Amino acid sequence: MNKPIRIALTKGRLEKDTVGLFEKLGFDCTAIHEKGRKLILPVPDANMEVVLAKANDVITYVEHGVCDMGVVGKDTIMEMNGKFFELVDLGFGRCKFALATKKDYDFYSGYGVKTIATKYPNVSRNFFEKKGMDTEIIKIEGSVELAPLLELADGIVDIVETGTTLKENGLEVIEDVAPISARLIANTVSLKLRKNEIDRLITLIEENL
Ligand code: PRP
Repeated sequence: MNKPIRIALTKGRLEKDTVGLFEKLGFDCTAIHEKGRKLILPVPDANMEVVLAKANDVITYVEHGVCDMGVVGKDTIMEMNGKFFELVDLGFGRCKFALATKKDYDFYSGYGVKTIATKYPNVSRNFFEKKGMDTEIIKIEGSVELAPLLELADGIVDIVETGTTLKENGLEVIEDVAPISARLIANTVSLKLRKNEIDRLITLIEENL
């Protein structure tokens, strides 16, 4: 038998949804359920090996070919923009990138350069460049909603899922930037060398989505 196909899963919510999908496909995910602190887990009946990693690292491992495939959010793909194939929209992990400001703030008025706080500087830069709008982008590591409240920024570009965080902090979406969901990605060489196995997995996934 070939060596197992190695697939990197984004830890946390996407991991749970992906394991749910694998079980729907009939794969035995016992090792993942009983993982403890282990980070590489076998899915023996599918000749697969699951690697648990942070979203950015999923892309790094797939780009470098140490993992054949990966499951990662479109948010990370848009921000990191690496060299790999995006194969399937898995449909779960749905949310969006949006531009938000303090409630009733007229973001597009005036001539001054607007300041944007975000965890996603590349996504933000591309969004405003397409509009031909000059902005100053400030990178924040988490709870980006704080930036307009502390008057560091005029607006934020961030992930909105239920909208609760914005609402509870007196902010509102003024424009959608892009829809987000989990994607199945593959290393460019793996896709050639292990085409049959990868195609089989894609077909199985698409039949069960
Ligand atoms: C994300 C995002 C928002 C929140 C949106 O943050 O950055 O803050 O979720 O979700 P909602 O629309 O359902 O309220 P996350 O929980 O990943 O934490 P962080 O920003 O501190 O990294």
